[in-house]
Amino acid sequence: MYFNSMKLYPGLVILFYSVFVFQFFSCKSIVKPYNFKRFPKTYQDVVNDYEKYNKLNGCKQGETIASIGAGNGIKEVQISCFVEGINWYLEEIDSSRLYQFTKVLAYHENLKGAPIQADFNLVLGTESNPMLSQGVFDRVLMMNVFHEIESRERIMLEISKLLKNQGELVIMERMAKTEGEIHGDCKFPKLFEDNFLKEMDEYGFTFKKSILAEEMSNLMYFTFEPNL
Ligand SMILES: C[S@@+](CC[C@H](N)C(=O)[O-])C[C@H]1O[C@@H](n2cnc3c(N)ncnc32)[C@H](O)[C@@H]1O
Repeated sequence: MYFNSMKLYPGLVILFYSVFVFQFFSCKSIVKPYNFKRFPKTYQDVVNDYEKYNKLNGCKQGETIASIGAGNGIKEVQISCFVEGINWYLEEIDSSRLYQFTKVLAYHENLKGAPIQADFNLVLGTESNPMLSQGVFDRVLMMNVFHEIESRERIMLEISKLLKNQGELVIMERMAKTEGEIHGDCKFPKLFEDNFLKEMDEYGFTFKKSILAEEMSNLMYFTFEPNL
């Protein structure tokens, strides 16, 4: 027994030393944020998602952008890895999601290995009022949010007032292909594109363009501007 331990001991010392050296040189401390399983594992994953999806929001350097229903801000942080100097207003009705934002930011700065160059303002709104200043935004985003709002008329009227002249509203949604489809996570019904565009017209938005980002899930980005 004694003999066996003596033989094992140098091996254990080497193992512990290797783990220590590996931790010291390869890992910056990572605080894992909410919903971590769905987070990118490498910076290349962030690059891929930007090229495939997040770029389609059309965000430009130096813009002032409101994101309605921003959740924990992951998409906005990821956009800011590639587009510098955005002045973000991340609006939510669920404060527990906004509380996750600092971890999301730290996690992505860690992946990137550099600070993310943007200003982030967190705003708690209500179901019908985003509590944001009117006429100051170059762009308003609603990513995967529109279908979750059951009474949309009042908030869409408020959103139309947020934009500057020539400001754009970008709505990202997975649209229905067949009757009765629902969203996997929230179980709200998916919308048909023609009904959605008619509804937006009734709220006073002019349709400018749409892009199909993913055929299988029918994930689309729609751009609108408010009628004058
Ligand atoms: C599916 S999550 C999307 C979160 C985030 N935009 C993303 O893509 O990761 C929808 C979010 O919309 C928020 N939401 C629902 N109704 C809202 C409303 N009337 N105003 C603002 N946010 C709302 C919910 O709290 C939820 O966080």
